[in-house]
Amino acid sequence: MDSKQDKIDKLNERIALSKLGGGQKRIDKQHANKKLTARERVDYLLDEGSFEEIGAFVTHRTKDFGMEDQIIYGDGVVTGYGTIDGRLVYVYAQDFTVFGGSLSETHAEKICKIMDMAVKVGAPIIGLNDSGGARIQEGVRSLGGYADIFFRNVQASGVVPQISAVMGPCAGGAVYSPAMTDFIIMVEETSYMFVTGPNVVKTVTNEEVTSEELGGAHTHASKSGVAHKTSSNDVECLNDIKTLISYLPQNNKEIPQPLNYDMKDEVREVLNNIVPDNPNKPYDMHEVISGIIDDDSFYEIHKEYAESIIVGFARLGGKSIGIVANQPMSFAGVLGVRSSRKAARFTRFCDCFNIPLLVLVDVPGFLPGTDQEWNGIIIHGAKLLYALSEATVPRITVITRKAYGGAYDVMNSKHIGADYNFAWPGAEIAVMGAKGASEIIFRREIAAAENPEEKLAEKEAEYAKKFANPYRAAKRGFIDEVILPENTRRKLLKAFATLENKDVVKPKRKHGNIPL
Ligand code: HXC
Repeated sequence: MDSKQDKIDKLNERIALSKLGGGQKRIDKQHANKKLTARERVDYLLDEGSFEEIGAFVTHRTKDFGMEDQIIYGDGVVTGYGTIDGRLVYVYAQDFTVFGGSLSETHAEKICKIMDMAVKVGAPIIGLNDSGGARIQEGVRSLGGYADIFFRNVQASGVVPQISAVMGPCAGGAVYSPAMTDFIIMVEETSYMFVTGPNVVKTVTNEEVTSEELGGAHTHASKSGVAHKTSSNDVECLNDIKTLISYLPQNNKEIPQPLNYDMKDEVREVLNNIVPDNPNKPYDMHEVISGIIDDDSFYEIHKEYAESIIVGFARLGGKSIGIVANQPMSFAGVLGVRSSRKAARFTRFCDCFNIPLLVLVDVPGFLPGTDQEWNGIIIHGAKLLYALSEATVPRITVITRKAYGGAYDVMNSKHIGADYNFAWPGAEIAVMGAKGASEIIFRREIAAAENPEEKLAEKEAEYAKKFANPYRAAKRGFIDEVILPENTRRKLLKAFATLENKDVVKPKRKHGNIPL
């Protein structure tokens, strides 16, 4: 019979074996490929010494293809919990050194177990993905395992924040777990995501494309919008997760921290000189954002995708807010298929997790053209309209310049439930720009004039005087107040403070039918 010491030694032996994953040779290969191992990633992500592993001794149950002789503790995924900046999170990290991080039935069970725990206790779930996909030796049991995870992703959605890092391969149906989480961060050069890889693409469509072009970090950050952020290496990616987490609550029931602001820091004169006098001249809405928020607190999401709208988290008076802002520097800040989807998705996230929304408006309208119409701008624009209309978090709008046409309604107007709507003195709230409007309504008069160009200019000025200002809207109460730009931060701090206890009673229904 084993002595007490023997038992302890055996346990330590097993622990040491489990920590070695697929062995030193494969660990070296992982490092040579510029990737950290699963354990190194977990250790770096979490507060020092805070990781508690669950399921270190789990092994697969496969007897086919000689698998019964290849038993590796942990079965290719490190799972457990720990803290980031003192806050509890549940983590899984796929271990590429063990069967290429491929997903077996037991590997999936481990992930499901921590997902269930995270939902039960109300803590974020962070998945570090690095996997060759379904464990080929297991067949359908592996597919079932994926589906078990997908199902849980959906159940956890809107209950606890879910963050996916893609830090290696992620292909086939495996992509659908990250896709259903709230945020995807991809590591440049070492990660890719696609439903079918370059070989299948070549066979089916005859296109020649590399993995990087097809589904690398840059592709998904700029072309598809699948990735919310890219990081240049593993360490940067893990740092990005830590920063992102700092803006999020633990779960949908957490009572957000109260605003805590310094009255001395209310007036920001820098905001007075950002918007140019010429209404057609662009400016960078990032300058407006940083002029309003707590210093250096903007964390941008989807930075390279649909750049005509900016979304991201910031702090105002120490409290997390979500910002949706038109960007006049890109296509004049117009709303298109992609920008509408981007803003709608972000709005939904903020609403799920009680993060108040600030909407900064300088929008000339929706993007015209066959490309937009045929790609469904009607439906995609409706997503943003729906998402904002449905959001019950505190919602405040500031119109910095243009708010034209349907886009005025969509961009968090009073009519769709915004709580406070402010406009800067140069705001133009109208059906369209003065030139376009004059060309339509004074067409005959202009055509009959001796000098049509002069007439157009005269009519344009007349229209602009009447409508290119915030006062007609303010008269109707569509704008609560026209404010000096320098007072924007002060107004927002006070207005958001009044909304701390906002309570909206929603009609009873199973769920609405957002135009997907
Ligand atoms: C079992 C796998 C595996 C898998 C890799 N390995 N993928 N084992 N099942 N899916 C093993 C390899 O045998 C190898 O074992 C080790 O992991 C490392 O793999 P390498 O090929 O040496 O690494 P690398 O050259 O970096 O290439 C990585 C890779 C490649 C591109 C991911 O391994 C690959 O193409 N794997 C197969 C991918 C695939 O077709 N998966 C199924 C997709 S279908 P040793 O012992 O040599 O270290 C799918 C459906 C999901 O996922 C459906 C969900 C609904």
